[in-house]
Amino acid sequence: MDALVQAARTVRENAHAPFSGFRVGAAVEDSGGHIYTGCNVENATYGLTVCAERVAIFKAISEGARTFRRVAVVADTDVLTPPCGACRQILWEFCGDVPILLANMAGRSETIRLKDLYPRPFDATLL
Ligand code: THU
Repeated sequence: MDALVQAARTVRENAHAPFSGFRVGAAVEDSGGHIYTGCNVENATYGLTVCAERVAIFKAISEGARTFRRVAVVADTDVLTPPCGACRQILWEFCGDVPILLANMAGRSETIRLKDLYPRPFDATLL
């Protein structure tokens, strides 16, 4: 299995999802090959919940990583789980048009580029 998918699968075990029961793991790979991981962290107010993808990318940014080449997202769904709209915007801003590896716990996977998931992003170059 791809190391990035494996990392997302492993960190998914740490998901804090007592409200939804929906556990997600994400991993981002920077241009040096370093992997940063994140899981979803829910909150009783619901709205303060942070998705796995944003935890992973914010961890990476806070560790000094700046350029990324791939993202992986793992959930236990038959239909592979893509990043939500908010995460697509955040990933676009930091990663651009990178391949997003979607995988489930049964070992099914698919790769889709962020531009195909998020074809008309709000981009900093529009400012
Ligand atoms: N979630 C993620 O972590 N990533 C996604 O791409 C979709 C949704 C989380 C948020 C919440 O904790 C749970 O899944 C249900 O929405």
